[in-house]
Amino acid sequence: MNDYTAATYGDRIAEVYDEMYPMRANVGPAVDALTKLAGSGPALELGIGTGRIALPLAARGIEVHGIDASEAIVAKMRAKPGGAAIPVTIADFAGFSVRDGNRDKKFRLVYVVFNTLFQATSQEAQVRCFQSVAAHLSDDGVFLVEAFVPDPTRFTRNQNISASRVESDLVSIDISRHDPVNQLVHSQHIFIGETGVRLYPVQVRYSWHSELDLMAQLAGLRLRERWGDWDCSPFTASSEYHVSIYEKAT
Ligand SMILES: C[S@@+](CC[C@H](N)C(=O)[O-])C[C@H]1O[C@@H](n2cnc3c(N)ncnc32)[C@H](O)[C@@H]1O
Repeated sequence: MNDYTAATYGDRIAEVYDEMYPMRANVGPAVDALTKLAGSGPALELGIGTGRIALPLAARGIEVHGIDASEAIVAKMRAKPGGAAIPVTIADFAGFSVRDGNRDKKFRLVYVVFNTLFQATSQEAQVRCFQSVAAHLSDDGVFLVEAFVPDPTRFTRNQNISASRVESDLVSIDISRHDPVNQLVHSQHIFIGETGVRLYPVQVRYSWHSELDLMAQLAGLRLRERWGDWDCSPFTASSEYHVSIYEKAT
């Protein structure tokens, strides 16, 4: 996938994103937690997408801004009630600047959810993302990351194929190749139906939570809390996800 850029995932999936992730529709616990952390705001979402989280957060009265590389997916948010009022910077979140006059705007909360940080597809890009976030945090600000705990055992000979839907007129297959040296996974969600074949590519560079903590340290941040889920439950050896909250180290 040589032509893959920061905008490719959003551009290709924009039309079907909201229907593709119905299991992500229950945003209540996430929005509750983000509302508490945002305090009087403002908040900034990296990879804001169709506004799945940003819109209900803004509806709680918090000033929300967004960054996204894909105009096409942001257009989906802007078409929803309240979406046009959310300012979005079209940029790669691996190295960004949201301006307030002639300086970086400061946020009480910066957050990146649903494994989106891993869509910065190199260690260097993820470090730059942490550094950009640190430059945009107010002194009492926090950076929240929701991400999966990597599980290389799900690959056999560094490949994985799974059928997520098999219906009489539609088949949905996920195909991935794993590069363990670079912690990269290149995937295609493939839909085969009566209207033809549709491909939705995604590339991620996964990191363990310990590596994220070091990236935070490089950016002058430190871990404040880590949960196993949005309900603040403890992060344990059996946790498949984590919600990690970083604050300024000094
Ligand atoms: C999995 S979606 C998450 C969308 C939204 N945050 C949510 O939770 O529903 C990832 C989003 O990040 C955007 N994205 C991916 N890589 C990016 C990058 N390097 N810079 C900026 N946006 C990016 C995509 O366009 C997409 O909107």
